[in-house]
Amino acid sequence: MVAATAALVLKLAAKGFPVSSHLARSLASLDQPAGDGPAAAASDRKFLELFANKPLRAGDTWRRPDLAWTLGKLRAGPDVFYKGEVAAEIVSAVRAAGGVMTAADLASYATVDRTPVETSYRGLRVLSMPPSSSGGIALVETLGILAARNPTGFDPAREPRGSAAHLHVLAEAFKHAFADRARFLGDTDFVAVDVAHLMAPAYHADLARRIKPGAVLPRDAYGTQGPPPEPRKDAGTTHLSVIDAEGNAVALTTTINLGFGAHLIAGKTGIVLNDEMDDFSLQPGVPNAFGLIGNEQNAIAPRKRPLSSMTPTIALDEGGRVRVVVGAAGGPTIITSTAQVFLNVVDWKLDAQAAMVAPRIHHQWFPEMLGVEPEIGADAIAGLGKSGHKVKTFPRIGTVNLLVRTDAGIQAAAEPRSPSQPAGY
Ligand code: DON
Repeated sequence: MVAATAALVLKLAAKGFPVSSHLARSLASLDQPAGDGPAAAASDRKFLELFANKPLRAGDTWRRPDLAWTLGKLRAGPDVFYKGEVAAEIVSAVRAAGGVMTAADLASYATVDRTPVETSYRGLRVLSMPPSSSGGIALVETLGILAARNPTGFDPAREPRGSAAHLHVLAEAFKHAFADRARFLGDTDFVAVDVAHLMAPAYHADLARRIKPGAVLPRDAYGTQGPPPEPRKDAGTTHLSVIDAEGNAVALTTTINLGFGAHLIAGKTGIVLNDEMDDFSLQPGVPNAFGLIGNEQNAIAPRKRPLSSMTPTIALDEGGRVRVVVGAAGGPTIITSTAQVFLNVVDWKLDAQAAMVAPRIHHQWFPEMLGVEPEIGADAIAGLGKSGHKVKTFPRIGTVNLLVRTDAGIQAAAEPRSPSQPAGY
């Protein structure tokens, strides 16, 4: 399976693939350098030269022979990437750009298997990503707070879906989850995280009790820490949800962080290097590109993994059958959009397409700003404003991919907010 997928990707890189309008627009945006000053502009020009050395329009065929060379070498196994010629190219590109990576860093890299975090929600066994992602714990906290407030399900008469009353509760749950993310979460190979406490229903019930209908709390009532900006739109992340003919499932999120990562190609390998260091907390209270803050828990250290928001999630029914496979791209909106789509399916009983189309909100506690998609009703926005939320319209929130397995079959919904589509074989 891996070999077949790799062969397909190699063929696409060698023979070329059609440029989508989304990709053409993203590449064109590289003409406006991400950083400040002439050095950033020169480095972006160099990146474009190595990445796509002529302007590409939608429909053009794009060949990536350098990447095909690398993928061909990878057929010999992962060591080529971490120790061989490809590794040497990566290290020299990073060092030439002022980085500190050494050959030993790459050679000693190893993936780690970690046990998913797990909770039970409305009869489903929910499995999601453990630290160093914050996604699973933040999702479990959000679901736990909502379940504590509404043990038998939401009450559409009291808090209809999409109403200010319901969205207020959802936003308040997100704020508690993100405040805990900033304060407590980091790579558990390096720092102590009281996962059991953060996952405990009694703790969620305590947070749920603090939520005031119709009013936000002072910022420090959710947690404590420093300064803001606005979350950026999604860019360098992809989420896939897959179910095979035997009912096995994969929820896979990959990320190189911002759009086209570090805007750096590793020499002749064609590999675009990530800018994942941004997922670390540089200093307590100093926000990253997504406006997220953290503290020493997520400080940089050799071999430490940065705190992510990735939330690949699989929910099983009592018989152990896969019912929901979900996850997203979009920085911190990964957590909030995954949670909302999941709730739309499990609590609000929407079909997959409707669950995806439904307008979303986003709150990450810090900055104190509630993002709402333009389709959120005016009444709800007015009500949320009255409750004390600083509401701001975001054009779109999150890039989710969802599968729902019902007794009648599999429903697949790709993100309607971006050009993607479900497929079946
Ligand atoms: O792992 C994380 O949380 C970030 N690297 C995700 C960045 C992201 O989702 C950007 N675009 N889709």
